[in-house]
Amino acid sequence: MNVLGIETSCDETAAAVVTASGEVLSSIVASQLKLHAPYGGIVPEIASRQHLRDLPRTASEAMRRAGMEWRDIQGVAATCGPGLMGALMIGLSWAKAAAWARALPFIGVNHLEGHLAAVELNQAPLPRPFVGLVASGGHTSLYLVAAGQPAHYSLLASTRDDAVGEAFDKVAKLLGLSYPGGPAIERIAGKREPDKIKFPQPRMKDGSLAFSYSGLKTAVRYLVDKARQRGEKIDSAEVAAAFQQAVIKDLIHKSLKAVKQHDARALALTGGVAANRFLRQTLAAEAEKISLPFYCPPIEWCTDNAAMIALAGARRLSLGERSAWDLPAVPNLQL
Ligand code: KG4
Ligand code: ZN
Repeated sequence: MNVLGIETSCDETAAAVVTASGEVLSSIVASQLKLHAPYGGIVPEIASRQHLRDLPRTASEAMRRAGMEWRDIQGVAATCGPGLMGALMIGLSWAKAAAWARALPFIGVNHLEGHLAAVELNQAPLPRPFVGLVASGGHTSLYLVAAGQPAHYSLLASTRDDAVGEAFDKVAKLLGLSYPGGPAIERIAGKREPDKIKFPQPRMKDGSLAFSYSGLKTAVRYLVDKARQRGEKIDSAEVAAAFQQAVIKDLIHKSLKAVKQHDARALALTGGVAANRFLRQTLAAEAEKISLPFYCPPIEWCTDNAAMIALAGARRLSLGERSAWDLPAVPNLQL
């Protein structure tokens, strides 16, 4: 089964053709990053308008690269949430219309199910149950993915305030760095000593796995404000290194704790923050220490893409699932 996937939940217009076994035949992403960068964050209205412009040619290009005509496609999948309302509606409406016009089955896909499916693109399925950490600009969630048709997802933890990528972006702004903040922080942190400044570890008082980054962000703000009041110059690279270490230690601690608590047989990392080499390498090393299989997809499939949506959709379509033609876009859709 070849499925055309469409993803427009945030600032990437993406289309891909994937088989139900997870083979990626094409994956095209038209990034809007440059359009939003001057605003220091994503402007929803700009995102919607750009999806409208970019989606038809992105989808055609995905079909062309896969060497497919519409007669070779057996289903259409599109993200129906969570995400920006206007942005979601563009992709969802386009995908429904495309499927309807060609009498193809259609399925709406939860963006987070997509991120978790990304770990099995062009890759043998992970042993189940596995713990999946989705770390991006919009999400910081730990899931337990159990065997089943379709797979069974349990949300083990999410963030009580900022998503981890959002925290990187906000701290980067405080340090006067460019958007998106994650890569900027990683770059300046470089090989700087991360222990010169001690930030509090963002742990929950109740010992739960929940994430929270607002305290850490406030600690950085105090440091920057205090230095400014005293007329001192702060060493941004040192602050970035300490902040990055505190966040990554927290992600690793909670992911491994979740694995232990649920006797998981593997650990997967995905989402845009997985682009952080320090996170990927440290998590891989920690997993190796306890002989835990660890997998993180190539970065192009960690960040928002349509191949992951096509695979999650293809799996459901091949089980006979279909979405109603009036399926709505749901900005805060849960998994
Ligand atoms: O998954 P993604 O491309 O978009 C969504 O949020 O859905 O993730 C983007 C987020 C941004 O907040 C960005 O700052 C963060 O991922 N990010 C990073 C790195 N590269 C991107 N965070 C830390 N280190 C990085 N190298
Ligand atoms: Zn995402």
